[in-house]
Amino acid sequence: MSAAPPAAHDNTAEPVLVVDFGAQYAQLIARRVREARVYSEVVPSTMPVAEMLAKNPKAIILSGGPSSVYEEGAPTVDRSLFEAGVPVFGMCYGFQLMATSLGGTVDNSGAREYGRTPLTVSRPGSTLFEGTPAEQPVWMSHGDACSAAPEGFTVTASTDVVPVAAFENDEKKLYGVQYHPEVMHSTHGQQVLEHFLYRGAGIQPTWTTGNVIEEQVAAIRAQVGTKRAICGLSGGVDSAVAAALVQKAIGDQLTCVYVDHGLMRKGETEQVEKDFVAATGVQLKVVDAQERFLSALAGVSDPETKRKIIGREFIRVFEQAQAEIVAEAGAEGEDVAFLVQGTLYPDVVESGGGTGTANIKSHHNVGGLPEDLEFELVEPLRQLFKDEVRMVGAELGLPDEIVQRQPFPGPGLGIRIVGEVSKERLDLLREADAIAREELSAAGLDREIWQCPVVLLADVRSVGVQGDGRTYGHPIVLRPVSSEDAMTADWSRLPYDVLGKISTRITNEVDDVNRVVLDITSKPPGTIEWE
Ligand code: XMP
Repeated sequence: MSAAPPAAHDNTAEPVLVVDFGAQYAQLIARRVREARVYSEVVPSTMPVAEMLAKNPKAIILSGGPSSVYEEGAPTVDRSLFEAGVPVFGMCYGFQLMATSLGGTVDNSGAREYGRTPLTVSRPGSTLFEGTPAEQPVWMSHGDACSAAPEGFTVTASTDVVPVAAFENDEKKLYGVQYHPEVMHSTHGQQVLEHFLYRGAGIQPTWTTGNVIEEQVAAIRAQVGTKRAICGLSGGVDSAVAAALVQKAIGDQLTCVYVDHGLMRKGETEQVEKDFVAATGVQLKVVDAQERFLSALAGVSDPETKRKIIGREFIRVFEQAQAEIVAEAGAEGEDVAFLVQGTLYPDVVESGGGTGTANIKSHHNVGGLPEDLEFELVEPLRQLFKDEVRMVGAELGLPDEIVQRQPFPGPGLGIRIVGEVSKERLDLLREADAIAREELSAAGLDREIWQCPVVLLADVRSVGVQGDGRTYGHPIVLRPVSSEDAMTADWSRLPYDVLGKISTRITNEVDDVNRVVLDITSKPPGTIEWE
């Protein structure tokens, strides 16, 4: 058929907007809205109301934030937001803003509440609280408290400290709660949020990752047309899913490049070369650059220098592969004009696309790509959170080993060897890491931990005794962490028998390792990686 692809139904046309008043609440709220199968976007609180309304929002949520409504220069929204006929839900700081803008009273009276607090629901059949318990734990974090709701609002819940902990106005479709329904400690928070979306705002839950695939395939086809695209595969989830989506859209017009820098974990390169290709049918160019990376890293121990070297070599190798693909295509009269990247929604928000906050994660791209590229970017995952990317990947038929893979740093095992990197040390660490992963999976712990770096302290030796002899080997560090987003993390409390098994297997099976230690530091103060 020669007809243009039909325009997909635009699932994102009327988003729920989450207005960000600072801290990290807004992203989490946006995720929770999407878990309720409603599309959401984060916007900065500095966005003029007219601009918000121009997005045709189905509803608007005002997030919490670290400020007090009485602070000079505290962020605010124009009152017209509440008069536009769009349903609004205020949470914590957003709730207090609503209260003060609409004529209620918020006192700065030292009525503080932090942490888990019992909430008493006084109107059990209300729009927000129907079907939830009369008393429920909620997560509070505030210094100011609302003592009188604005006119026309019904008070539907309170706590020992706060007389107005929730208010509702069904006629105007305005709702608010003093607590944080988005955090897990508020046990009925998701239900209350869904009540706002479905009952308060009358939204149908129709957002699915299936829609995302359909929409993105159409958008990619429209963007790329008959030209060609290149995608760098890192072995991670994001680039794999981005590539699979683009492959579905434009098939053989896409070529993927995988730079084998020799710093991958055991079996990962094979997964990309074999399983990913088998699942997607993608054209893949593999560049074996192991020797090149090893010689560039020889004699280097400083972590930042290692990162720079790996980043620099990566760009050089990738550019060369790219030039070859462009030349080959050009010989056939084809134009390579696009570069596919697995940018996710949190990256977009963090680099200013949503909140204007600084780009804190810039060092986390694989080496970072050069700025003078003459390619247009294709970023089909720009609207998605990590868990949604995994769902899209699974729906596209990618193997579980790729879709469920733990986050792994671009510089790979290069920054998990404390000391110089060499082939022998990499092989040793690969073995130890494979054992740890195997045992964690066998114990069913993959979903409980965020990631578990396994680190070789190559510059440290300790005395041991194995068999009849004294040994002088290296320690291996296990660093299992739980986290929501890697910004903060806690060390995972793994069962002793699993830890014991990993330790025994590593010291028995990996030469030159005679000690396994467990890192029990949270982040902060420690980072997740050791280097
Ligand atoms: P840290 O060690 O900063 O790690 O607590 C936070 C998250 O980022 C990953 N990480 C990196 N990823 N290049 C990357 O692509 C890097 O240089 C890098 N350093 C850390 C780390 O694995 C964790 O998920």
